[in-house]
Formats: sequence, structure tokens, C-alpha cells
Amino acid sequence: MNFEQCRPLVTGSSRGIGRAFVDAFLDAGVPKLYAGVRNAEAAAAVAVIDPRVHPVVVDTTRPEQVEQAARQAGDVNVLVNNAGVLHYAGFLSAPDLDQARHEMEVNYFGPLAMARAFAPALIRSKGTIVNILSIAALTYMPLVGSYNASKAAARSMTQGLRVDFVGEGVAVMAVYAGGYDTGMHLETTDKTQLNPPSVLTGAVLDALAKGGVDELFPDAAARGLAQRLGLIAAA
Ligand SMILES: NC(=O)c1ccc[n+]([C@@H]2O[C@H](COP(=O)([O-])OP(=O)(O)OC[C@H]3O[C@@H](n4cnc5c(N)ncnc54)[C@H](OP(=O)(O)O)[C@@H]3O)[C@@H](O)[C@H]2O)c1
Repeated sequence: MNFEQCRPLVTGSSRGIGRAFVDAFLDAGVPKLYAGVRNAEAAAAVAVIDPRVHPVVVDTTRPEQVEQAARQAGDVNVLVNNAGVLHYAGFLSAPDLDQARHEMEVNYFGPLAMARAFAPALIRSKGTIVNILSIAALTYMPLVGSYNASKAAARSMTQGLRVDFVGEGVAVMAVYAGGYDTGMHLETTDKTQLNPPSVLTGAVLDALAKGGVDELFPDAAARGLAQRLGLIAAA
């Protein structure tokens, strides 16, 4: 992909990895970027980053906002499904199912709704969907059981969409992220074990530039796990 022809939409652009995607795409020279945020205050904050940034208010769990976003950003050719939540809820330790349901809404149904709404634009442009998954989709971590399940569902959806788009010229990339230094982590997390978000965004932009990358393991922890699971060859 030539970034001079790239018009991405990034969900969850207000902070963390999404905000890093905004900076990375702008640095790469995109002419226009749609920054998905959830409220007017966040929209005003992203609007002043650069004149190429167009805020789009889209809570990905709200169908009417997803449909409105697809109408507003009909020339998108890269959809980055980045928005996500993590509640640190175990399957048995959580008090009820509310957190598990919320993770499924944001981490699975949200990207699915965005992919469906933007499918016509992506088919027109022969574009790319980038789904920000997690190594949690590949393994079980007891303290975040329902998050694992939501990311595993999103992985299954990602692989299915890749098949459904065959013949339409739309690529679907799964990104299995390890640990990144964002507000998603608890205060008690050892930050020295986390990567800066630029590691992930750099790997994704390199993969987009190269083309043909379906499954991306952007950091050392992700590559190590993928090797142990036999998903990629040992280095
Ligand atoms: N950080 C990590 O170590 C890590 C590892 C693996 C995968 N990931 C994945 O990377 C993605 C980004 O995570 P992050 O670390 O940047 O998290 P973060 O700092 O907590 O940011 C989450 C972003 O998602 C947005 N968001 C939450 N619910 C939303 C909804 N219903 N609709 C639209 N936007 C919503 C938030 O918007 P508001 O500001 O409005 O709340 C925020 O912009 C997530 O999918 C996460 O699962 C992260």
C-alpha cells in the first residue's frame, strides 16, 4: 500500500494504541485520517492534531453511530478495529456476567458491526481491515478469562471475514498484540515488561506497506508464543 493513497479510520483514537495509530499514519503521509472517538470532547481534542484528521464520533457498540460513521467516511480504505476493553474478570471470580458481556460487545460485536457497515466502502476501494487482537486470543490467562474469550471470538471472526471477502479484493489482517504501555493495564503492572505502542503501529504500517500479511505478531512476546504454538517458524 502506498500511504499517499491511504484513508484510514481508527476506532478508539482518543488514547493508547489508537492514538499511536493516528500519529503513525500521519507520519507516513496519509492525506486524510478518520479518528474514531466516543464524544464531542475527544473529537475536539483529535481535530487539532493535524488538518488531515477528521473526527468521527463512533461508539462501536451503538449501531446508529456505526451506520452514521460509514456514511460519513465512505472513502475509507483501511479500517483499523482498535477499540477495546479489558475488565480483569475471571470466569468464576467475576461477580456476574456484566463485564464478560461488555467485553464481548466491544471486542467482538463492535469490530464485526464496523466490518459489516464499512464492507461496501472496502469492497469499492479493495481495502484492508486490521483487527487488533491480542495474544490472549491464543491462550488462557486466568485473571482475564472473559477478555481471552472475547478476543478469541474476534480472532474467529477475523479468519471468517478473510474467507467471506475472497473475490472482493479486501484483505483482513489479524494483529496478535503482546503487552503495550497504555491505560489498559493496572497501576500495579510492571511497565518495564511493556512495549511502547509505536512497536505495534510500526509493525502494522510495515505490513500494510508490504501487503499480503494476514497474521501479524508485532512484538517479541507475540512472536515467542506464536513459535511455541507452531503458528510461525522458529527464528
Ligand atoms: N495495551 C495492551 O497491552 C494490549 C495488548 C493486546 C491487545 N490490546 C488491544 O489493543 C486495543 C487498544 O487498546 P489500548 O491498550 O490502547 O487500550 P486503552 O488505552 O484502554 O484505549 C482503549 C480505546 O478504546 C476506546 N473504546 C472503548 N470502548 C469503546 C467503544 N464501545 N466504542 C469505541 N471506542 C471504545 C477507548 O475510548 P475512550 O477514551 O472513549 O474510553 C479508547 O480510545 C484494544 O483492542 C486492546 O484489546 C492491547
